[in-house]
Amino acid sequence: MSMHNKIAIVTGGATMIGEGVVAALVAEGCKVVIADIDTTKGPQVEARHAGSRFIRTDVSDDASIAACIKDTVAAFGGINYLVNCAASYVDNGAASTRAEWNTTLNVNLIGAAMMLQAATPEMQKRGGGAVVNFASISAFAAQTGRWLYPISKAAIVQFTRNAALDLAPQNIRVNAVSPGWTWSSVIEGMAGGDKAKADGVAADFHMLGRLGMPAEVANVVSFLLSDKASFVTGATYACDGGYQALGPEARTAAIGRLMS
Ligand SMILES: NC(=O)c1ccc[n+]([C@@H]2O[C@H](COP(=O)([O-])OP(=O)(O)OC[C@H]3O[C@@H](n4cnc5c(N)ncnc54)[C@H](O)[C@@H]3O)[C@@H](O)[C@H]2O)c1
Repeated sequence: MSMHNKIAIVTGGATMIGEGVVAALVAEGCKVVIADIDTTKGPQVEARHAGSRFIRTDVSDDASIAACIKDTVAAFGGINYLVNCAASYVDNGAASTRAEWNTTLNVNLIGAAMMLQAATPEMQKRGGGAVVNFASISAFAAQTGRWLYPISKAAIVQFTRNAALDLAPQNIRVNAVSPGWTWSSVIEGMAGGDKAKADGVAADFHMLGRLGMPAEVANVVSFLLSDKASFVTGATYACDGGYQALGPEARTAAIGRLMS
């Protein structure tokens, strides 16, 4: 049942959330490949986590994906787990160009599908495997000025179902995690590094009144990969502080307003 010595590929592993996943898997005894285009942060993550290895990978390029699979097998001997975390935030809403649509769908959706296709034969050699795709709260609700990213994440939810069904006979489970606002490079940048400010904004629409942390998302990813989730497949698992369960009344006492 142990994750010890299992081999995982984490796309987008060079950033804060990805590094959280790398750390959680290394802590379970996994060997982890950080598959990212970021050749500055990737080696830095590798240096912080013994048992991980950076392999420069562009998930929008099939030759690069094939090289990642080959190099992973050469380094560690096979593949048990795949985490599709890499993402593009390119999004110009209604004004998005065809090139922008292609970029975001290519990285967020097709990149995940091609990574899974390339990793499947190696998982089969090991008798099966487990996959976690990154969805988002953005998959389930309209957000002002955003089209490409939320649509790519909604597609990831359906991709997770389709892949889970067709890979079940090969003993490969496919699930997704759906984070809420998470303390990440993106949010840190927009909030000018002010976490208290970011928590304050998030408090309006997360039941728990704050952002999530990368380690909290990573714990769910680790669980879904592990044999503890042996009967979980095709599912999208919310790790969003209650965001999706909250209705339009948000955290305000709306009934109280009627009576005041
Ligand atoms: N930040 C949040 O609050 C939040 C909320 C919900 C879901 N998510 C999801 O979590 C994941 C991580 O998000 P993040 O905010 O840390 O994003 P980020 O932009 O900080 O990181 C994305 C990573 O993907 C890599 N990447 C981009 N294009 C790539 C490509 N073609 N090939 C390989 N790697 C590529 C980047 O180099 C980067 O390391 C994403 O899937 C995102 O959709 C994030």
